[in-house]
Amino acid sequence: MPLSLAVNREQLAAAFAPAVHREVAAGDRDWSKTVRRLHLALRWKAFATRWLPWLERRGQSATVRETYEEVWGAQADFHKFDLAKREKQLVVWGERQFYPSQLGAKRIHLLYIAALIEALRPGRVLEVGSGLGQNAMLLAQRFPDVQFTGVELTAQGTRIAAVTRAAPLPEVLQRYAPFPLSDASAHARVGFVRGSAAQLPFASSAFDLVYTVQALEQMEAIRPQALSEIARVCRGHTAMIEPFRDWNQTSLRRAKTQGWGLFSAAIADLPAFGLTAVHSTGDMPMKVYYGVGLVVAEKR
Ligand SMILES: C[S@@+](CC[C@H](N)C(=O)[O-])C[C@H]1O[C@@H](n2cnc3c(N)ncnc32)[C@H](O)[C@@H]1O
Repeated sequence: MPLSLAVNREQLAAAFAPAVHREVAAGDRDWSKTVRRLHLALRWKAFATRWLPWLERRGQSATVRETYEEVWGAQADFHKFDLAKREKQLVVWGERQFYPSQLGAKRIHLLYIAALIEALRPGRVLEVGSGLGQNAMLLAQRFPDVQFTGVELTAQGTRIAAVTRAAPLPEVLQRYAPFPLSDASAHARVGFVRGSAAQLPFASSAFDLVYTVQALEQMEAIRPQALSEIARVCRGHTAMIEPFRDWNQTSLRRAKTQGWGLFSAAIADLPAFGLTAVHSTGDMPMKVYYGVGLVVAEKR
């Protein structure tokens, strides 16, 4: 895997630190108790998904859309990106354990995509499953010469992203950025389009880089179409920060991905879509029950 990214442990740790409530010692009893409880709940969910499917409706595209229409809501609310948020999760990074908010991992995901853009210098970049559009807008302010587009399944996400683009970027988002922002108006040039990854509304080879951040995770039901479409519209590289099977081998993590019907491709599945992995890393904080890592692949 020859591509290397110029991002080091110190930069990653600095991006993570503001989201951390505390580090947890190995063998901590509360932590172990919570993990055991989670494990039981997730195994039950995986069992019900497999054997009592009428109880479960997830994994279908219409349901994913309904869920996210609700998650994104009717109004732009970027307070979920406030680093002072007290919500805490069980997160591991290598051998270390933390109670951080989910923003720590999300900032690190952005740092990795930024490092990739530094390495590849793409002209046109697409985010598939762009949600509220904050990734693409912050990256646009970091790299004003790059043309960014986001494609998103929900009407609410697409609309909120377009409304946000039309005004100065909210301060809470600027503070959330894990890198310096060099052009405060560049987010206005990001294109936001409503559409599905199953049938991307773009010409073949339209983008030098196509990336996803925990969006394929919702697309297990349309996985082959989504990967084929990403490969089709890409003419250079794809980057996916997703729960590849390679990072979800433990019983706890398998129960999570199976129970929730989440993306479960392995890195080794990518060549079937004309994508050759050139870099992969799991060096990032992840929920204890859910492994997410970065895979960069070249279209060949
Ligand atoms: C967990 S959110 C991540 C959003 C964004 N990438 C981020 O990092 O904040 C997943 C997003 O993928 C979108 N999504 C799910 N299925 C999709 C599909 N078939 N096509 C396009 N977007 C989709 C959802 O609507 C949601 O906005």
